[in-house]
Amino acid sequence: MKLADNKATLSFSNGSPSIELPVYQGSVGPDVIDIRKLYGQTGMFTYDPGFLSTAACQSAITYIDGDKGELLYRGYPIEQLATGCDFLETCHLLLYGELPNAKAKGDFTKLVTMHTMVNEQMQFFLRGFRRDAHPMAILTGLVGALSAFYHDSTDINNPKHREIAAIRLIAKMPTLVAMAYKYTVGQPYMYPKNDLSYAGNFLHMMFATPCEPYKVSPVLERALDRIFTLHADHEQNASTSTVRLCGSSGTNPFAAIAAGVACLWGPAHGGANEAALNMLEDINRNGGVAKIGEFIKQVKDKNSGIKLMGFGHRVYKNYDPRAKLMQETCKEVLAEMGLENDPLFKLAMALEKIALEDDYFVSRKLYPNVDFYSGIVQRAIGIPVPLFTAIFALARTVGWIAQLNEMIGDPEYKIGRPRQLFNGSQRRDVLPIVKR
Ligand code: SDX
Repeated sequence: MKLADNKATLSFSNGSPSIELPVYQGSVGPDVIDIRKLYGQTGMFTYDPGFLSTAACQSAITYIDGDKGELLYRGYPIEQLATGCDFLETCHLLLYGELPNAKAKGDFTKLVTMHTMVNEQMQFFLRGFRRDAHPMAILTGLVGALSAFYHDSTDINNPKHREIAAIRLIAKMPTLVAMAYKYTVGQPYMYPKNDLSYAGNFLHMMFATPCEPYKVSPVLERALDRIFTLHADHEQNASTSTVRLCGSSGTNPFAAIAAGVACLWGPAHGGANEAALNMLEDINRNGGVAKIGEFIKQVKDKNSGIKLMGFGHRVYKNYDPRAKLMQETCKEVLAEMGLENDPLFKLAMALEKIALEDDYFVSRKLYPNVDFYSGIVQRAIGIPVPLFTAIFALARTVGWIAQLNEMIGDPEYKIGRPRQLFNGSQRRDVLPIVKR
């Protein structure tokens, strides 16, 4: 970042001395006012719950222009990466800053492939769960448990440890997610197969059984690979900020990523894809397209507590570019599966059309986000609804670990420790219980 030829002057109406604050600019996007000296100079904090106007860090990984609906990973538009590259090329880009050439791609793919197995002891963690446990509950536990097996790569301040932990996490998430799924359906775990692609191996571990050969569908393999790319990173979203804050204490990368998995689970964040699919199924069960008007009315009634899941975004005030690509992937997969007339897809498109013509949504700049169509395409691939957010976590792991490693490599970083506006009881003395 560099000093802008601009300064911020903060003055107070109560006559307190005004102060000057430096303004910094990045390569693109909003400038920032550096308030690090504010408390020291004024004895006051800023107040920004939800961080609506707060940059918590500087980063060179992902840039979002919410007004334009633009998403760039290391400068490359998501539309070009999702159609012109595969997920492992995108992982290389996010981790190292550049797309790999053919040799680098081969080396990186081999490195990831050689780390896809998990320690045989990992399977015993699952036995403690009920068979109907939510896959995100299982995954939160399994990812945290990984730290118990890799004492050779838990020193986050060692760049070599950071790199091998990144490779291990990217490589093992598909194996862990597939194990969480197999456990809930009572089927044996399938070991990774090194001759399959990243997405193909995941499909194999999910849907193959030891009883017969499993053929990976190239269309589903490509669709899943694209879903991974679309979810790979997204600037300082809630779960990435959780990973950064958790990692800022110096804890190991596995624990920090487990914190990200836990945060992503929430329905306002990564859990929205499961919630959006359940919402579409409810509408479909209660009358389908004919009932959309009634449902929209409920959403607009603040007292209903009902939201149009898969719509709205803190940053995008235009169409989420990932939602457009996800809708296209939906069409491809449904056609491949002979499900062109899938009622939920038709319902989703009708719901989107009606919402985008309704002033409630238009005036609040609420558009479909990445979660609106992702559930439909995952369901068409055969992924059970409760596993949708685990797939999101699988894909977002590369973004989390890239952002974590960037933070640890930044000489400016310190342990994150926000302050507060206190409005509780002032000092008072404890009375003996007989006098309370
Ligand atoms: C993800 O941050 C990221 O980058 C996240 C993510 C990523 O890749 O990491 O993009 C992934 O989490 C996408 C978002 C998935 N969540 C959902 O689809 C859940 C439904 N959406 C909302 O809960 C909401 O839109 C949020 C949480 C996504 C954003 O919330 P904000 O920015 O705090 O905005 P808000 O809640 O203040 O909404 C502004 C207004 C409010 O109405 P008013 O008080 O102004 O009258 O819009 C309304 C909200 O009530 N609103 C909605 C709505 N989203 C916002 N009303 C109905 N349905 C919705 N979906």
